[in-house]
Amino acid sequence: MTRITITAVKADVGGFVGHSSVHPELLREAERCVGEAITRGLLVDGKVGSCGDDVNLVLTHEHGVDDKEVHGFAWDTFLAGAEVAKRLHLYGAGQDLLADAFSGNVRGLGPGIAELEIEERPSEPIVVFAADKTEPGAWNLPLYKIFCDPFNTAGLVIDPKMHDGFTLEVFDVIEETRALFACPEELYDLLVYIGTPSRYVISRVFRKHDQEEPVAAASTTRLALIAGRYVGKDDPILVVRCQSGLPALGEVLEPFAYPHLVAGWMRGAHHGPLMPCAVADATPARFDGPPRVVGMGFQLADGKLLGPRDLLGDVSFDRARQLALELADHLRQLGPFEPGRLPPSEMEYTTMPEVNERLADRWHAREEVAVR
Ligand code: F6R
Ligand code: MG
Ligand code: MG
Repeated sequence: MTRITITAVKADVGGFVGHSSVHPELLREAERCVGEAITRGLLVDGKVGSCGDDVNLVLTHEHGVDDKEVHGFAWDTFLAGAEVAKRLHLYGAGQDLLADAFSGNVRGLGPGIAELEIEERPSEPIVVFAADKTEPGAWNLPLYKIFCDPFNTAGLVIDPKMHDGFTLEVFDVIEETRALFACPEELYDLLVYIGTPSRYVISRVFRKHDQEEPVAAASTTRLALIAGRYVGKDDPILVVRCQSGLPALGEVLEPFAYPHLVAGWMRGAHHGPLMPCAVADATPARFDGPPRVVGMGFQLADGKLLGPRDLLGDVSFDRARQLALELADHLRQLGPFEPGRLPPSEMEYTTMPEVNERLADRWHAREEVAVR
């Protein structure tokens, strides 16, 4: 049986208006590129979508992960989108295309990418989640709930095929190392790390005794770390396989029924609730947010992508949206104070060095200050 690779990749190559959404012409250009790649046989299938100011491509092919040609195609598609963005004077044209020239792999260049090579099951339901105005660590909590929390995933308790648990791979994005955690045995060790989502990011999930085929893969790029300066929030993407011994579709969606707080939002420098929404509503507005997540459901059929079905647009997430808006009200009352604003080490924009330099003479040992 031929193996199929799912490549989900996203980039911000220009916003319409500001950083709020993607212009339809840019999406049409990406669709044209994908259509051509299917015709010339590079891809089995491909779908174009958007979440906030990011274009996402969900591609299927038979070339495996980290394939130079497929990555090159994604890069060229984003470049073509950036050209449209430049022509239309869209905002931040080419924002995520950090490298001057493509070097064979989009990892670390800017676009966020989640890839997994699988043997397609007789029926293969998958969900591709895309989020805007947040960072890859935003998936830590939902992935933990989906694959490790019996209060979220009933199958961990009552499905004999899932009862053993899963193995999670975690990246340290600062040290660029990785570690595996077998759960439930190592849950507490896992949580010591992934509770700091700005540094430790769940990258892949495997069935317990099979480390060949991931059942979930997430993007782990942090643009700010690549560029060494602020170049936009590294909005993440995630692919999760479902059903038949894996978490059911509803178990995969369940964590998004309670919006958790993530880093990002305005200027990548605030905490905000991750609001689940329909693809059509993934258009951050208030304070450039709140951060959004969409869930695109697909059935694979010999590598073809049936869908997407707009899963988080469903009415069962209405209350989560309402709660997210209430949390947003509350956090906004804090203005520039932590924890509304992120701690200094996590802020993507800061005037701290400038202000510190200007006011350097103002700071004295406490006993030296004469009260004026
Ligand atoms: C956050 C984001 C926006 C911008 C903000 C300022 O990820 O994209 O909140 O940071 O709109 O943008 P600039 O500096 O481009 O005016
Ligand atoms: Mg942008
Ligand atoms: Mg974005």
